[in-house]
Amino acid sequence: MTVIALAAESADQIKADAVIVGVAAGPDGRPVLAPGSDSINTALRRRLVATLVSLGATGQAGECHRIATLGATTAPVVVVVGLGTPVRRQQFAPEVLRRAAGLAVRSLAGAGKVAISLGTAPDGTITDESVTAVADGALLGAYSYRRYRNATLHGYLPPVRSLVVLVADPIQRSAKQAVARSKIVCDAVCTVRDLVNTPPSDLHPREFADFATAEASRVGLAIEVLDEKALKKGGYGGIVGVGQGSVNPPRLVRLAYRHPKATKTIALVGKGITFDSGGLSLKPAAPMEWMKSDMGGAAAVVMAMVAIAQLKLPVNVTGWAPLAENMPSGSAQRPSDVISIYGGKTVEVLNTDAEGRLVLADALVRASEELPDLIVDAATLTGAQLVALGTRMSGVMANDDDFRTAVVAAATRAGEHMWPMPIPPELRKSLDSSVADIANIGESFGGMLVAASFLCEFVGKRDGEPIPWAHLDIAGPAFNQGDAYGYTPKGGTGAAVRTFVQLADDVAAGLL
Ligand code: BES
Ligand code: ZN
Ligand code: ZN
Repeated sequence: MTVIALAAESADQIKADAVIVGVAAGPDGRPVLAPGSDSINTALRRRLVATLVSLGATGQAGECHRIATLGATTAPVVVVVGLGTPVRRQQFAPEVLRRAAGLAVRSLAGAGKVAISLGTAPDGTITDESVTAVADGALLGAYSYRRYRNATLHGYLPPVRSLVVLVADPIQRSAKQAVARSKIVCDAVCTVRDLVNTPPSDLHPREFADFATAEASRVGLAIEVLDEKALKKGGYGGIVGVGQGSVNPPRLVRLAYRHPKATKTIALVGKGITFDSGGLSLKPAAPMEWMKSDMGGAAAVVMAMVAIAQLKLPVNVTGWAPLAENMPSGSAQRPSDVISIYGGKTVEVLNTDAEGRLVLADALVRASEELPDLIVDAATLTGAQLVALGTRMSGVMANDDDFRTAVVAAATRAGEHMWPMPIPPELRKSLDSSVADIANIGESFGGMLVAASFLCEFVGKRDGEPIPWAHLDIAGPAFNQGDAYGYTPKGGTGAAVRTFVQLADDVAAGLL
């Protein structure tokens, strides 16, 4: 993976293949140089703005221009990236910096070493928040999935190998820590992207569990894997039912991270359908293409735990990944089968494509049994999420309004797009079954909320009160079917990892 460091060198004199600087949108439609570009502008005999104007630049976010400096600066190339209108005088919001750094670094694929001079204040200082934003954007922009590609074909360019964020001298300790944290979190995000991008023929539940086992031993997490026999014996009817149509049997992974100073325990739960064909309620061809991403929630749980362990956050975290392949066959569950979820509640499976909620039900009951202080799940759960919020915005539902607000706030701070959504109580009735305790599908309008209403039934109590629980529907955001933008590549995005880590951080800091 790409390496990153801080340096207190001048942008015009650093030895690199390219230097990235920013430009804002001025009130008259002309670009205005952002702090951090001074030395480059001076080296170019103050011609940078005029050059940008002649290239058609306006300074809007999303613009990126490459300029050859022909010996005027040590680096042969300067990349000027648009930052739009500043929020305060020459200051830019973290997401603007993340996207700009991501876009610029993506445009430099093939380069070895790239220096970034973005996010500084006019006096040359930089806040830890801005350092994190620039580092995150750059590291997340330096990604490509190469495992199945012959590198020599198609003019393929590998991502930037080495990044240097330029900051004031002396380099603050807190800025160093911010970069170290960013590297840990972004490596976790990029690994989730790899897992999501992996063809489902190479990532069955067993391989996924083996991967989690290897990661756990690498960073010192406790791990327990239940195989199909243990799942049957334990009464995990949701995971077993969904997995029974596949020749690749299901698994339940439990990861645990403990810190001696922790006072709270969070349970993270992630939907891990390694491929969702829909089962006997088979999906049409087009949406099925997308369904290798249906383990994005589970991957986010595993890698967020890895990051939390590496960051040594003073909080206890337990991670649950119910893993199954949803396939049609002679042994597959049928629409109208009744299954028994862990703990005994029965579900009439009216649609085998609403399988995520079945595996999550087992995991939520099992996670609740350990009486955590909070439960958060992430799942590529419904197509209705895309209808309601579009491809880039996850829905956040919860059994507690304050907790939902805190989760959305954590997501926003972490740079993930999440929006609060309700669980209207009247929807529960539509899930009534004529033969079992509950059906797995209900009212079709508001399908994301109906799914949340189903999950809510499986969240346990602690001291007589429901355990605060939030559900992130990341169906669209986990996988970018469109072109790359900002720091987001095509394909797996790593959705929910940054939010999970931020939440653990917030709990550790006593904010939750
Ligand atoms: N994995 C899908 C949801 C999904 C759709 C994820 C699009 C990513 C992109 C889920 O298992 C599913 O098929 N849900 C059904 C539920 C329905 C049958 C109630 C859906 O959303 O159509
Ligand atoms: Zn499905
Ligand atoms: Zn699914």
